Amino acid sequence: MKAIVYKDAKKVELNEVEDPRVETETDAVIRISTAGICGSDLHMYEGRTSVEPGTVLGHENMGIIEKVGSAVKSIRVGDRVVIPFNVACGFCLNCERGFTSACLTVNAEAPSGGYGYAGMGPYRGGQAELLRVPFADFNCLKLPGTPGDELEDDFLLLSDVFPTAFHSTELAQVKPGCTIAIFGAGPVGLNAALCSMLKGASEVYVVDNIPARLDKAREIGAIPIDFSKGDPAEQIIERRKSNPLIRASLRPGEEKMPGVMCGIDAVGYQAREFSAPRKESPVEVLSSLVKVINPTGNLGIVGVYTAEDPHGVNNKAKEGVLELPWGELFEKGIALGTGQCPVKRYNRFLRDLIIAGRAKPSFIVSHRLSLEEAPDAYSKFDERAPGYTKILLKPASSTGKKAA
Ligand SMILES: NC(=O)c1ccc[n+]([C@@H]2O[C@H](COP(=O)([O-])OP(=O)(O)OC[C@H]3O[C@@H](n4cnc5c(N)ncnc54)[C@H](O)[C@@H]3O)[C@@H](O)[C@H]2O)c1
Ligand SMILES: [Zn+2]
Ligand SMILES: [Zn+2]
Repeated sequence: MKAIVYKDAKKVELNEVEDPRVETETDAVIRISTAGICGSDLHMYEGRTSVEPGTVLGHENMGIIEKVGSAVKSIRVGDRVVIPFNVACGFCLNCERGFTSACLTVNAEAPSGGYGYAGMGPYRGGQAELLRVPFADFNCLKLPGTPGDELEDDFLLLSDVFPTAFHSTELAQVKPGCTIAIFGAGPVGLNAALCSMLKGASEVYVVDNIPARLDKAREIGAIPIDFSKGDPAEQIIERRKSNPLIRASLRPGEEKMPGVMCGIDAVGYQAREFSAPRKESPVEVLSSLVKVINPTGNLGIVGVYTAEDPHGVNNKAKEGVLELPWGELFEKGIALGTGQCPVKRYNRFLRDLIIAGRAKPSFIVSHRLSLEEAPDAYSKFDERAPGYTKILLKPASSTGKKAA
């Protein structure tokens, strides 16, 4: 089959590789109808991970079941399914507790597994024609409809972006009426804004410096904050202070709560410095969140931080050790949650929101391309070229086309 293969930093290629097969009785093989390219893939693309050359990339996968092993009970050949990016067994301590992001049996090297990703086990990715799915009964989420229908792209986002975004709002304790600042207007940050809206947040601020992405935030009713126009925490606080309706509703002492109650980091360790965006500053976003979140607020961190980063900005950052305003965080009593999203905890009810027409996470999709077009798309997405917000690959199409 044809597949996108990691070769070296800034180099991926379309190669011919061996077809995946049913290796054990609990496996399925799916024919991919859509696979996403993720911001997380760029960490590998840029040579910022230990990914092995030859790895087939792609952890955002959906398609049609082509083969099943003899022990697979709930999924049949021909079923349409979307697959969580976490590979999980369903029977270990952590899967049983709902933490499929920390499965203990699928990866000898770490407490988590995933498709086509550095350090996540021996599983090939789905930026390809076919994909092997272990523990198919547990890992396949069944979908209605047929490939290429009007919900295809919404359903694809159930593999990672939409559940990860929802998870970030859970970590940040987003509730009706709450105020929230989301850093990063990539696919994850924009979907976090969508999820905050679904949960009934009152003020949703989205921080980035890419105009097309900030426009998307505005489109769904969030308030865009451009960090190239000044310190984003101060911009948010200033906006709140200058709103006469907010001012007129404060109780005595409430000026000590000038920021927001919830915050989300949807950027991670490759954060840019606000005043010099060509430079990387891995603590820029976390420090700003500690500044803008009110005392007793909540912080959700889904942007990735790694314990090993060959190109870290200094020796400590190379080991994932960062200098943070920990004292201020403690004094404010900010609660925080981090880590990989356990997709399976959320994907079923988020699917049902899509089916019911209550959520359309695909508003972020900018490009629908063939596998042949993927190497060039990686490079454009990596440069954050204008308009390249989210790229979906359609392996069955030989030509592919740009989204309207
Ligand atoms: N925890 C999980 O399970 C999980 C799942 C998927 C993705 N992720 C991670 O989430 C992060 C976002 O993913 P994505 O696909 O949206 O990535 P992306 O790279 O497309 O988006 C990141 C955005 O952050 C912006 N940014 C950079 N520096 C900034 C700063 N200082 N302040 C505000 N914005 C800044 C960039 O301009 C970009 O728009 C990545 O780190 C990705 O690896 C985590
Ligand atoms: Zn992803
Ligand atoms: Zn498990």
